[in-house]
Amino acid sequence: MSLDVSSKQFKRWIDEAGKLVASHYQQHSDSKVFTGKSPAEVQELLNEPLPDDPQNIGSLLDEVGEKILTTITNSAGPRYFGYITGGGNQVAVLAEMIKASINQNNLKWHSSPVSTELERLVMRWVAKFIGYPTSSAGVLLSGGSVANFNCLAVARKIKAPVDISDEGIYGSQPMTVYVSEEGHSSFDKAMDMLGLGKKYLRKIPVDDDFRIDIEQLEEQIRTDKNAGLQPICAIAVAGTTNTGAVDDLDAVAEICQRYDLWYHVDAAYGGPAAKVEGAKDLFSGIEKADSVVVNPHKWLYVPFEAGGALVKNPDHLRKTFSTIPDYLKSDEENGGRTDLMEYNLPLTKEFKALKVWMTIKAFGATRLRDEIASDIDKAKYLLELVESDQNLELMAPVPLSIVCFRYNPGGMEESALNSLNNKIIREIESDGRVFLTGTKINGETALRVCFINPRTNKEDIQLLKKVVLEIGSKLEKKRV
Ligand SMILES: Cc1ncc(COP(=O)(O)O)c(C=O)c1O
Repeated sequence: MSLDVSSKQFKRWIDEAGKLVASHYQQHSDSKVFTGKSPAEVQELLNEPLPDDPQNIGSLLDEVGEKILTTITNSAGPRYFGYITGGGNQVAVLAEMIKASINQNNLKWHSSPVSTELERLVMRWVAKFIGYPTSSAGVLLSGGSVANFNCLAVARKIKAPVDISDEGIYGSQPMTVYVSEEGHSSFDKAMDMLGLGKKYLRKIPVDDDFRIDIEQLEEQIRTDKNAGLQPICAIAVAGTTNTGAVDDLDAVAEICQRYDLWYHVDAAYGGPAAKVEGAKDLFSGIEKADSVVVNPHKWLYVPFEAGGALVKNPDHLRKTFSTIPDYLKSDEENGGRTDLMEYNLPLTKEFKALKVWMTIKAFGATRLRDEIASDIDKAKYLLELVESDQNLELMAPVPLSIVCFRYNPGGMEESALNSLNNKIIREIESDGRVFLTGTKINGETALRVCFINPRTNKEDIQLLKKVVLEIGSKLEKKRV
């Protein structure tokens, strides 16, 4: 018995679902960014026993409208500035529907020739977009954390002094990896899960611009070598999560060459800016990396999930991940087939490349670069607004599209300022007109704003400033 309905009925469903999607776009500007509902309220809204009987699809879509769309955080909207969150794009919405309908499994070439070859093609395009060799091999994964894990697994496999596939890491002295203090937490997780140990991830201090201190990097490598440890990899960050700082990529490359280390660049966020006028000089040296992570679901405006891992020598990727049991044997007579399961951890994998391909084709590289340049301009605009207001203080340089600042009316101790700004972050969330997140800059609380959504315009940024000042002044008065 099929679960399908007639083609006429199916088209009606698509029409109805289409109306829901379109109405969501209309609400971007007027709805609250965060609903303010409590966990108990959301649980109460959703809670019901496992349904035994079918529900009519019209009423199911109504329920989606009433319960789901009214309870989202509007991260695709123009006034969401939290974390590093893109708003997706409408062309990719079409791709996602088509992807679900064809349900291709990207494990082997013959299980989906087109998704395999499209993934290889879009990763070559992504490489070209950021100025990395297109002879590299790339895979699409769920996000930057998994992609960093993937690349660190390759680094460990290739640079370990023993054959770790069978023996594990037990025959080696501890292997050390280097990243700045501003490196992403996915590296701590990867060190833990790869059995390398978090304490062997050496966090190197940064300079005033939050870029890795090259002298201290080299000194730490020397110290570790002298202590009988085995340095295997150094990571440069091209767009840190906190402030958007880009490490000196040429200098880290040189150190890696000198000490025979794997050179990884985490460009999960910043990578797409690598060939954008006004930013490109920062990225000189990215082409020297052994591996690079760059996320289409961040600054290429593709909806979640699409993280990309590029490895310069395709054999290194295959050597790390190829495991072929009988039930997955390849047909050796059919040369030229690439089975993606040999290039990454997942076996079953969805057809992520379709939304990346449709996005890049629909807008073109030039338009995408223009949007990235415009996001950088938005950050510069907020920077001006901050610098010209005596109640606001800039907390870090703004090399890309992240701005860290705080409410500071003057005359307050650091601890009081931290407590005030923590309260401002909480209050802005429940106010709901804009959404931002916080971080620590040199140990002090900062409001952190990221621009990677082309829907954001100057009025949204002015509103952001107005809300911060309004809430800041209200909470400051309450204090005294
Ligand atoms: C520099 C950097 N690396 C890695 C990641 C992790 O990416 P994801 O959230 O896609 O796992 C992030 C996330 O913001 C990031 O900023």
